[in-house]
Amino acid sequence: MKIRFLKEKDFSHGFIDCLEMFGKSPLNMSNMMVVYKQRKKHGIKTFVVEDKTTFRIIGSASLILEPKFRYVEKCGHLEDVCVVGTHQNQGVGKKLVIHVLEYAKANKCYKVILNCTEENYTFYNKLGFKKHEHGLRIDLT
Ligand SMILES: CC(C)(COP(=O)(O)OP(=O)(O)OC[C@H]1O[C@@H](n2cnc3c(N)ncnc32)[C@H](O)[C@@H]1OP(=O)(O)O)[C@@H](O)C(=O)NCCC(=O)NCCS
Repeated sequence: MKIRFLKEKDFSHGFIDCLEMFGKSPLNMSNMMVVYKQRKKHGIKTFVVEDKTTFRIIGSASLILEPKFRYVEKCGHLEDVCVVGTHQNQGVGKKLVIHVLEYAKANKCYKVILNCTEENYTFYNKLGFKKHEHGLRIDLT
């Protein structure tokens, strides 16, 4: 497998199937392209895992690098880690998160944080993440 940044052509080569692990998106392809460009402009890093035989995208994760006022280094926010159903439990998610953590470290992050459900806690715990404070949310729409 190869881990790299998302390209436009990936949308029709498995990337949307990966996103659907979180449910179907209400956006059509051209709206997704608008979002893709906005995310690039804002420096949001979207990583994908490409299958070496089929060249299809089988996993994805995003990283937001937040410069802090109180630290020289940044805080990394890990978002939307997913692996398509057919490739789960084969070590793909683990390799992907390790790759993103190495990228975060090389790009001057002193920590990486994320929110997850209880059922995914073991996956992240095996990668070294520990419970810290509480995740909170307010719905505005
Ligand atoms: C969570 C997810 C990314 C894991 O990816 P994956 O490729 O299946 O995981 P891996 O095969 O790399 O698993 C790595 C280790 O975590 C364990 N693990 C993975 N998912 C687990 C789970 N839900 N519960 C307990 N352990 C889990 C594996 O058994 C493996 O353990 P090992 O190293 O001792 O063998 C994947 O299941 C997924 O996409 N889920 C749907 C989307 C989602 O919920 N994403 C998380 C958003 S926070």
